[in-house]
Amino acid sequence: MDMDKLVSLCKRRGFIFPSSEIYGGLNGFWDYGPLGVELKRNIKDAWWRDNVTLRDDMVGLDCSIIMNPKVWEASGHVGGFSDPMVDCRTTKERYRADQMYVFVTRYPRPDDKGQPVESWLSGLGASAEDAAEGPTKKANKLAKRYGTPDAPATILPYLDIDPSDRAKVVGPSTDEPGTLTEPRSFNLMFKTHVGALESESNVAYLRPETAQGIFANFKNVVDTGRVRIPFGIAQVGKSFRNEINPRNFTFRSREFEQMEIEFFCRPEESAEWYAYWRKNRFQWYVDHGLQSDRLRLRDHDAEELAFYSTATADIEYAFPFGVSELEGIAHRGAYDLGQHQKFSGKDLTYFDEEKKERYLPHVIEPSAGADRATLAFLCEAYQEDQVGGETRTVLKFHPRFAPIKAAVFPLVKRDGMPEMAEKIYRDLKRQFNVFFDEKGAIGRRYRRQDEGGTPFGITVDGQTIADGTVTFRDRDSCRQWRVASANVVEALRDLLDGQAIPGAE
Ligand code: GAP
Repeated sequence: MDMDKLVSLCKRRGFIFPSSEIYGGLNGFWDYGPLGVELKRNIKDAWWRDNVTLRDDMVGLDCSIIMNPKVWEASGHVGGFSDPMVDCRTTKERYRADQMYVFVTRYPRPDDKGQPVESWLSGLGASAEDAAEGPTKKANKLAKRYGTPDAPATILPYLDIDPSDRAKVVGPSTDEPGTLTEPRSFNLMFKTHVGALESESNVAYLRPETAQGIFANFKNVVDTGRVRIPFGIAQVGKSFRNEINPRNFTFRSREFEQMEIEFFCRPEESAEWYAYWRKNRFQWYVDHGLQSDRLRLRDHDAEELAFYSTATADIEYAFPFGVSELEGIAHRGAYDLGQHQKFSGKDLTYFDEEKKERYLPHVIEPSAGADRATLAFLCEAYQEDQVGGETRTVLKFHPRFAPIKAAVFPLVKRDGMPEMAEKIYRDLKRQFNVFFDEKGAIGRRYRRQDEGGTPFGITVDGQTIADGTVTFRDRDSCRQWRVASANVVEALRDLLDGQAIPGAE
């Protein structure tokens, strides 16, 4: 699937717009339009219902975005939440050094005296996968373009290149070698000031994750007396990271929403709970339509693990721009509660009535991104197929996520059809997000809804006048069948609940 086509559909149909577009936008910030807001809300609501409402061992929280800055000292974000960046002195572009891969080719270029000198080419076009595979078509193409002789290019992570050789690297958007600065550490938290004065004493941060609000409230939640270990606390909300290189549409944004769970359990049961959440969260994406062959559970190896974690896995999805993280499931031990206990001086241990023991619980953290999930479901849903000899673009969303559940159409604007269709629309609207459309040829109206991902069409036509039935149409198969107009609400509910389409195998 071509990412440009999806981005253009998202704009055209009102899913996602660049933020403040009339002023030229702002890199890394996005707005959700009328269909996008419904889609993302349906995803967040489904996540909340499945992980909080339907469970006996979970409660929710909604914490402030700006917290006491000590929270971020305790969590390690003030000291360590940074990425290495390099700047290009010529173009002023900024890159994540850990995401740069350099095509190393013998590239003879003339020096001041016209003598060929060897230099290296860098390209952000290469990826970690390219580097793992070694010389690739892409690298060889680049090497050819620059007239490199026989030897194929190799690909190295920029940070692996000896500092003394970095001056040979040509930046991604220049032709000159040696324009890149040395990598520098860049803290990703957005800073602000609380109150009227702008001084170091009132610095505060926009939260870079929702998780710390949960840890900071652990004692409050336990003291309400509603919970007993094992239990989890969930939160959905905005997070902010001053990403060096926002890219791939909404995938890496500077403002985004997270859906996080901190699940507190006995230390000796934590490995079991980790295995449970790892499997449970993977299955959630499969159940909502992500093809399992495009999904991957990648366990972190020992080098990648944080020092306090015994196990972490990423749920990855094969986006059109590469396989990338959707959600992480981390076994965090007692690290976070321990840190907050140390920095706040408050006792955060839990008294286990059954064991008659006091301890710091262990934590399993399934941490998902609402915007990344929305993007993955959009990528998965996007299809071009042939209908009636024409190519149509359709978004095949899971009905639970579809922004509009059904569209109601009068076939023509006469013979009482608009009035009958409007009555059906009003009856449905009390329970579902539905749409009424009487403009244009019926085929075009169907196509418009297909592009917006509406799973069902309901048409009042000539036969409705004769026998009181309406036509139902299924978005994916385009199959049509008739339903008594008095039963439309129940019929739609059954279909959205997963009842098979009449006539489908
Ligand atoms: N509390 C753990 C934590 O925040 P993370 O891997 O940094 O872990 C969790 O983030 C999830 O948040 C990611 O898997 C991703 O879905 C989402 N996320 C993180 N940074 C993001 C960004 N810049 N843009 C969009 N989503 C992001």
